[in-house]
Amino acid sequence: MKLRGLKQAQIRPGTIVLVRVDWNVPIGPDGQVDRIEDYKIQRCTPTLEWLLKRKARLILATHLGRPQGKPDKRFVLHPVKRRGQYLLGRPIHYIHDVRKDAVMKALDHTYPFGIVLVENLRFYPGEEKNDRAFARELASCAQVYVNNAFGVSHRAHASVEAITHVLPSYAGRLLEEEVHHLDQALHHVRHPYVVLMGGAKIRGKIDLVKQLSSRADTMALGGGIATTVLGCNGKEVGRSLSEHREADMCVLVKSQQRKKHFLLPTDVVVANDLKSKKTQIRSIDHIQSNDIIGDLGPSSTRTIIEEIKKAKMIVWNGPMGYTENPAFDVASRKIAQGVARSKAYSLAGGGESVSLLVRYGVVNKLSFVSTGGGAMLEYLEGRKLPGVEALRTR
Ligand code: 3PG
Repeated sequence: MKLRGLKQAQIRPGTIVLVRVDWNVPIGPDGQVDRIEDYKIQRCTPTLEWLLKRKARLILATHLGRPQGKPDKRFVLHPVKRRGQYLLGRPIHYIHDVRKDAVMKALDHTYPFGIVLVENLRFYPGEEKNDRAFARELASCAQVYVNNAFGVSHRAHASVEAITHVLPSYAGRLLEEEVHHLDQALHHVRHPYVVLMGGAKIRGKIDLVKQLSSRADTMALGGGIATTVLGCNGKEVGRSLSEHREADMCVLVKSQQRKKHFLLPTDVVVANDLKSKKTQIRSIDHIQSNDIIGDLGPSSTRTIIEEIKKAKMIVWNGPMGYTENPAFDVASRKIAQGVARSKAYSLAGGGESVSLLVRYGVVNKLSFVSTGGGAMLEYLEGRKLPGVEALRTR
């Protein structure tokens, strides 16, 4: 079923459009949004520009952080407002309110084509409860609702789901693009299909491993996922981050492991401490009890790059090592460059992966980089996202 897109929306000059954006991005210690971290805000702007070109009046709504339904000054929206304003090249009027009177006043204040940003939605308990009354309050000034927040579309929250029952609702261009590209990985697989999976934890990703491994020709593993699988296979992993010691984990892992297609590290970079600069390369058969694995070794990295060269489709989620430490940042960087050079259809996503691709300067070289973290994982697991389903044509 297709999504109801912006082209189907009745947008005339002066139409008031409520746009749900996902400007939930890390705020630096200086209270600013770092250039490396503003990808979600950047990707949102074409939809806003499209609406502004048609002279719509915009009310923007986002969440930031997890303030548990009450105001919290750590999560006020000034930093994201400033970044949004800079990227759009237009002033944004931020109000600490979502109620009709305050929003109407702000819209009048910014007349004719101003942009109003309402308060962090998660300061209100109704948001996470998917409360219809809160959705009605949010909707009260608007004539049209647009969801351009793929990153939060896996949450049945009032500004994502309930609101679609209150206003004529459409998918923004970013949401449409996300769904189009993730559908490629789900329904239009091209072989050889290589999945690169890293990151710290496997438990939250086991359903994704299940889903992707049923289609992939090669699943190349790094990070804590690789150490968990190695540990489950009886290998010594020293003091590395690994979930193989958790009772049910190895049963889950083993049920997914088809020997041929799991590509596990043969060599790794180790240290005594993840923050250490003193590292050593070791064969996976010679890990010592005090070692901590921080990255894939050169031979494992080369093997993955060879697989990437043969691939027609690549999906990547999660760093291959502890990339916060430059000593462990080598494999992810080389693999990212390999993916960027490849002619295969390439898709990546997840907060950490996106920051890495931006930092390595290759984010624009992939076929698509998703703005979703949990939303992308759930979509690729084959689950139905409430915010997306609500916008499918019936
Ligand atoms: C994200 O950053 O993944 C989205 O903004 C969703 O945030 P949440 O996990 O706090 O719901």
